[in-house]
Amino acid sequence: MSRLVVVSNRIAAMEGKKESAGGLAVGIMDSLKDAGGMWFGWNGKISEEDLPLEKHQQDNITFASFSLKQSEYDQYYLNFSNTVIWPAFHYRLDLVQYQREDYDGYCQVNERLAGRLQPLVEPDDILWIHDYHLLPFAAACRKLGMTNRIGFFLHIPFPTSEIFNALPPRKELLEMLCEYDLIGFQAETDRLAFIENLSLVTDVEQLDDDRFSAYGKSVTVRVYPIGVEPDSIRELAEGALPPKLAHLRDKLNGKLIISVDRLDYSKGLPERFQAFETLLENYPQHRGNIRYFQIAPTSRGDVQAYQDIRHELETEAGRINGHFSTLEWTPLFYLNQHYERSLLMKIFRHCEVGLVTPLRDGMNLVAKEYVASQDPANPGVLILSRFAGAANELTSALLVNPYDRDGVAAALDKALCMPLDERISRYKEMMDVITKNDIVHWRQTFLNDLKEVPIQESKAAKAS
Ligand code: G6P
Repeated sequence: MSRLVVVSNRIAAMEGKKESAGGLAVGIMDSLKDAGGMWFGWNGKISEEDLPLEKHQQDNITFASFSLKQSEYDQYYLNFSNTVIWPAFHYRLDLVQYQREDYDGYCQVNERLAGRLQPLVEPDDILWIHDYHLLPFAAACRKLGMTNRIGFFLHIPFPTSEIFNALPPRKELLEMLCEYDLIGFQAETDRLAFIENLSLVTDVEQLDDDRFSAYGKSVTVRVYPIGVEPDSIRELAEGALPPKLAHLRDKLNGKLIISVDRLDYSKGLPERFQAFETLLENYPQHRGNIRYFQIAPTSRGDVQAYQDIRHELETEAGRINGHFSTLEWTPLFYLNQHYERSLLMKIFRHCEVGLVTPLRDGMNLVAKEYVASQDPANPGVLILSRFAGAANELTSALLVNPYDRDGVAAALDKALCMPLDERISRYKEMMDVITKNDIVHWRQTFLNDLKEVPIQESKAAKAS
């Protein structure tokens, strides 16, 4: 029977702790448990030695992880993945710093990883590759003669041609992507942008509704909006708050606004702080009665743009609190720390407003988690950026333009004053979508499609 082989830049450290793993990691683990198989990825270590793969068996899943050399970490992870693709795909060309040798290093790491994976893979195994670090991975596998079905899911947006055209290796990247049998995107806009970009650099023939031929290869391109596990989130959220937090919640009178993000410039954090400031300026009735908690653990701290955003936020938080705080009241709590997911779900349930305003986001699972954590009899209100993939599904949130600080402030005021019946009806509408498009639906539809999409004749011929 064919096994499932998942490849992602980072490998989840599960070790039985389902509670602390992210929803996506749990979803992928569940697909691996169903099919049996392997998760292959970076263990987060840097070593100059050519170490053997670290292997760890848990039930019917093998975790196989590798370390990176310093130059590989720099060129593949820090520079090309996170200082070229990440900013460009989030529409921040101003932050892109492209160097040819980083692109070469990125491709070489993909080739080296494919080479390390190959001996572990059986011909009928199905490969599921994740995210922007691994755009060339299928091409590297094909070079080695691998004819397995290989699917790719992009967790981040795919940019339109005005942006993508600025990437010097744009043609190579697109050609390499065509080596996948199935490409999945978060949203229809991403899928259309990919097809548009491809059509601009080569002849594309549409073979079917969502199957295309380019560069003598054929690829199926579909949309699979990623979801969460609503039942397990509800269970986590219903649990008691740890005593210290419960005490704090009792002491804090007034309504709470919560945001949780990796500390990333794509999340619109300074704009969000300024919108909160506008709320306090334009709607003074809320002063003294609300508190805004921004949880933002440091991320990719070796990249300059991330150091800059951290500095900017510290300054903004200090400035806003300096202006509005009184002896009895501090409006903004900026927590530059990581919190366990199980605790976050409980915190979400105790906050009246979830504020999720990225400038650009593939999906944003925090938005779905906030809704799924709510008490159905007294739910909080989600304020969501139009530029998050989740806005395509959560149309009953208060949708905002994160660049419009007056608009976000008005939405905050509306959320803080929203009557119970409106909160319940919006919550129900969102929960219907969240339950229907949950993480199980996401992984099952992707994997079923990957098993069924036609593969190109040249691959089929090699395989037989
Ligand atoms: C985003 C990306 C993931 C990545 C995660 C954490 O969600 O889509 O692929 O793993 O950020 O980023 P990091 O650079 O710490 O792995």
